Amino acid sequence: MTDTGTPRPGFPAGFTWGAATAAFQVEGATAEDGRGPSIWDTFTRVPGAVHGGDTADFACDHYHRYPDDIALLADAGLGAYRFSLSWSRIQPEGRGPACRAGLDHYRRVVETCLEHGVTPWVTLYHWDLPQALEDDGGWLNRDTAARFADYTVEVERALGDVVSHWVTVNEPKVAAHAGYGAGIHAPGLRSGEGANVAAHHLLLAHGLAAAALRSGVGDAPTVGVTLDLTVAVPVSDSAADVAAARRVDGNFNRWFLDPVLHGRYPEDMVAWFGGTPYVREGDLDLIAAPLDFLGFNYYRRQHVRAGDGTVGPGQGSPLELDAEVVLPPGVPVTSVGWPVEPGGLHELLVRLHTDHPGTPLVVTENGAAYPDQVGPDGSVDDPLRVAYLDGHLRAVQQALDEGVDVRGWFAWTLLDNFEWAEGYAARFGLVHVDFETQRRTPKTSFGWLSQVARSNTLPAAALSGEDVAR
Ligand code: FCB
Repeated sequence: MTDTGTPRPGFPAGFTWGAATAAFQVEGATAEDGRGPSIWDTFTRVPGAVHGGDTADFACDHYHRYPDDIALLADAGLGAYRFSLSWSRIQPEGRGPACRAGLDHYRRVVETCLEHGVTPWVTLYHWDLPQALEDDGGWLNRDTAARFADYTVEVERALGDVVSHWVTVNEPKVAAHAGYGAGIHAPGLRSGEGANVAAHHLLLAHGLAAAALRSGVGDAPTVGVTLDLTVAVPVSDSAADVAAARRVDGNFNRWFLDPVLHGRYPEDMVAWFGGTPYVREGDLDLIAAPLDFLGFNYYRRQHVRAGDGTVGPGQGSPLELDAEVVLPPGVPVTSVGWPVEPGGLHELLVRLHTDHPGTPLVVTENGAAYPDQVGPDGSVDDPLRVAYLDGHLRAVQQALDEGVDVRGWFAWTLLDNFEWAEGYAARFGLVHVDFETQRRTPKTSFGWLSQVARSNTLPAAALSGEDVAR
């Protein structure tokens, strides 16, 4: 690393440093303790749906290994663990009485966190809908939002005394658009405009869950939602490209931010999609329930040009936007082809602060996939991830210096895991996992982040290209 010089002023006292995971991606044990199947169990059985035909039947075996994994997270000096609950461990069919074994499991996970001085941040929904609810229409069916509210009540009753931090729904856009529009995620449907119907019901589920959490046994819970947000940049200043980028921004960002924070869908996009017939009276008031924080996941910018295709690549929008997402020349990309542009995170933070003043912000996921390998000496050196984290945390620091209210940052992710349609091919972890032996090896990035979190300060000098080309 280059000259460490005088350390920068640190992050604010009390800044939350954490790492995130999601139940289906890490737990395995899919048939244990009465767990019912989820839409992802079904989807992984569809030929060609997941890279290499991978399933999450074993994943990281986190269901059994969580004590060691949480100890590892605590060793890294991270003070928060964001993990999700598997709805079908708690209600195997998505409705009815809660399954004691499921709730007891998560209580043990929470208690393990607390024993290590780690604050659990519980995500109620990270995409693994009970299959029985999908059989009734899944998120296209408004009733699923009501079922989610019931599930939240069960969870809150069982864990509300020990869990203070909640995320209702993770990335409603991806759950709806990739699952019900593009069909590249479970349940694999291509229902066109149904993607917006599913998105609305996911937002409604968020609003109902937020209300349930606030009226439960927990004392003043901290409640938020996690959106996946981007920065849509036109590739030129032509009116067509600028308008296309505005639509991508509308579809990715404002379609979710505006209802959650202001109780309305953005007018330009409502007009573009030709109305919102699925919205009922009172829905938007519920969706705009007050939040203690806005969580968002940041991975990349979208560079947009006008075009007649749908938005791609990756977890794009299935909806016709007359826009195309392209890769700008010369920008480095991760192993899943996402451009690495830390400046986008700074832009986004400033924009959220400006457009939605008074909303505390938390980066609930940020990270990168690289083809990490165990070296001859058994270590895993991941300089590109270190550089990615360094750049993005500098972007957070800059936003803080400019007065943006950022309360915390979570690495995606603690462990290499089942990366949805990419299967085990995309490694995002701070800790390498050998999926044959379940051996965990903390990568260089784990040690680097640990120093940052423990000191609450970034190294004085940014990492240069040379530093990371070791
Ligand atoms: C986000 C998801 C998370 C993981 C990362 C790479 O969209 O929330 O589960 O897949 O992307």
